[in-house]
Amino acid sequence: MQKIWICGAGGRVGRQMARLLDKKPVELLLTDIDSVDITNSKEVMEYAGINRPHVIVNCAGLTDVRMCEAEPERAFLVNALGPRNLSVAARVVKARLVQLSTDDVFGGGGQVPYTEFDSPSPETVYGKSKLAGENFIREFCNRHIIIRSSWIFGDKSLYLESILKLASEGKTVKAAVDQIASPTGAAGLAEKVKELMEYGEDGLYHVTGQGFCTRYEFAKEVVRLSGYSAKVEPVEAIRDAYTAMRPSYSVLDNMMLRMSSVDLLPDWKVMLKEYMEQRAAKKQGRM
Ligand SMILES: NC(=O)c1ccc[n+]([C@@H]2O[C@H](COP(=O)([O-])OP(=O)(O)OC[C@H]3O[C@@H](n4cnc5c(N)ncnc54)[C@H](OP(=O)(O)O)[C@@H]3O)[C@@H](O)[C@H]2O)c1
Repeated sequence: MQKIWICGAGGRVGRQMARLLDKKPVELLLTDIDSVDITNSKEVMEYAGINRPHVIVNCAGLTDVRMCEAEPERAFLVNALGPRNLSVAARVVKARLVQLSTDDVFGGGGQVPYTEFDSPSPETVYGKSKLAGENFIREFCNRHIIIRSSWIFGDKSLYLESILKLASEGKTVKAAVDQIASPTGAAGLAEKVKELMEYGEDGLYHVTGQGFCTRYEFAKEVVRLSGYSAKVEPVEAIRDAYTAMRPSYSVLDNMMLRMSSVDLLPDWKVMLKEYMEQRAAKKQGRM
């Protein structure tokens, strides 16, 4: 039976991956920082050596962009040295490594969607540390898939929940008009990660919801779907503490999926509607 080790299994994407793979005849190994700290090379090597997974899916990361700016060394430790440790372990036990990465590897200067063949140019510590993680994987592990995604929403999504909290309290939601990317549902992303893991060739893939929007358009759609009547105010990113550090334009072209004849994810609005309906059903105890 195939053994799949998910690191960061308690996070937004990790939980979705675990839920999805649980339905299959595979042996799942689920760890998070409390069981295997990916920054500890000895711990990683020992766990891999004892359990000998066939696939390692790294959903662990330091994803708080503001924390990365405040503590760059910690960001590089988790987002760069963590994947390095997993790459070395994967090579030793002959596992394939699947790594989650981000649109933040691109700076904000672009105007057309970035393909997998465009050169990254991160501006933030988060983006730089994630790119360093990608590069370590390319250097140390020959069997790997790197999947870049963007603006992931799903259970415990901080940005989406902060919009809903303000809206539920009748407060004005302020959202940036000068940041553009493609929102992506965590459940859809997990499906695509699974598909690539099972059938995809090694390499780099951009996997996002189709279409793109500003943070303001995203917030407006979230509020509309929630049924709250709160006002959404367009602001400059610099005035929104949550998003101030993010690239102004980071739309990812899913060119590798297209060239590999893999179906693209649906439009972000379709995925958002589906998620909001599921969230409401869960709240009402219907799921
Ligand atoms: N969220 C997005 O919009 C987005 C967009 C593009 C790409 N990504 C990438 O997708 C991946 C998953 O994102 P996510 O949103 O699911 O992140 P998340 O919810 O923050 O989950 C990350 C998980 O990793 C754990 N972790 C942190 N440091 C660790 C360590 N040293 N060893 C082991 N586990 C550790 C965290 O534990 P604690 O919570 O206890 O710290 C958390 O459970 C990340 O690599 C991220 O860069 C995310």
